[in-house]
Amino acid sequence: MAYELSSTSWGQEELDAMQRVLRSGRFTMGEQVRLFEDAFAARFGMKHAVMVNSGSSANLVGVAALFYRSTRPLQRGDEVIVPAISWATTFHPLQQYGLKLRFVDVELDTLNMDVSNLEAALTPRTRMVVAVSILGNPAALHRIRAFCDAHDLIMFEDNCESLGASLNGRLCGTFGDINTFSTFYSHHISTMEGGLLVTNDVEIDHLARAIRNHGWARDVPADSIVNRGQRHDDPFFEAYRFVVPGYNVRPLELAGAVGIEQLKKLDGMLQVRRRNAAHFVELFRGDNRFIIQRENGSSSWFSFTIILNPESTLDRARVMDAMRNGGIEFRMITGGCFPHHAAVKFFDYDIVGTLNRAKLAHERGFFVGNHPRDITAELDHLRSVLNGV
Ligand SMILES: Cc1ncc(COP(=O)(O)O)c(C=O)c1O
Repeated sequence: MAYELSSTSWGQEELDAMQRVLRSGRFTMGEQVRLFEDAFAARFGMKHAVMVNSGSSANLVGVAALFYRSTRPLQRGDEVIVPAISWATTFHPLQQYGLKLRFVDVELDTLNMDVSNLEAALTPRTRMVVAVSILGNPAALHRIRAFCDAHDLIMFEDNCESLGASLNGRLCGTFGDINTFSTFYSHHISTMEGGLLVTNDVEIDHLARAIRNHGWARDVPADSIVNRGQRHDDPFFEAYRFVVPGYNVRPLELAGAVGIEQLKKLDGMLQVRRRNAAHFVELFRGDNRFIIQRENGSSSWFSFTIILNPESTLDRARVMDAMRNGGIEFRMITGGCFPHHAAVKFFDYDIVGTLNRAKLAHERGFFVGNHPRDITAELDHLRSVLNGV
């Protein structure tokens, strides 16, 4: 039987929404994007949501905005504490803006940053902590928030993998000063490509709107601090004013329109994902050959991770062959342990203590897919294939 990593969560509603946009003739960022942003911000109880063309772009725009903010801006050479496991584009904007990364190991069971290392990671140059909740499972976000508050640090929450998860009743993606989301195909909601930056900071919101759109003042309200008295009386000059160095990472109207429909379905899809998760946990709980993710708070279960316990006799190659032969797709946990990748040679970084647990997850871990539909049969198949190795 085929057990895939991901599948579409779209129905007729998304196709109809696309058709409406096609008929309107307006394809690039406009009203649908704005409506999706408003609905997204409301869903998360946050003041502002800015849509861009990917979660990676949301991270890039967020880091850029912190360099141009009027107070407490980041500066080149500042240090940022990061978990060793995340996706590459959690880290790349930090390198691109000349920041120094301090990698902290993860917990083997939650796969999130081991926050008991935060104090050891802190130096007089630390300015920010990046919090990542891996594959739906909330990191210790309240602890990271408290640490940032105690040391006057920026908290940047990359929530691209954990839309819909929560901790102590608070949604992931609302703990940070800047929070980012991805709406890429395989994620909890999909707009084909897409991402959002969510914040309660009005200046970050205005900066993000300019940075995603060439650094142009066009979407920045007239009275914004970002305009800094630069507005021109002559409409000719006012129409083309560039206030910060920016990019073009605008989303399409098609993506905004689909996002509105997907958001309406989110609660139902999360329920199904959580039901699948209960079955997965039931199947693997208590089998100490396999280390599965321990839920912290309420996970939105992006997928199901398995680490082959090094104390077992399980052979990684044999397990992977059995899954391939059984038609089960699997992949590395997020991006694995980032310092294991060649890209790190371009980074200014150091490692706080050791990254032994991230290394183990990199080398002996993988994940299989969760879906917004019942996958009891796929999970039973996985269990029987792994019983045979
Ligand atoms: C933690 C994390 N950050 C950022 C991204 C980038 O999102 P996108 O694929 O939309 O660029 C991903 C992608 O899955 C991710 O897992």
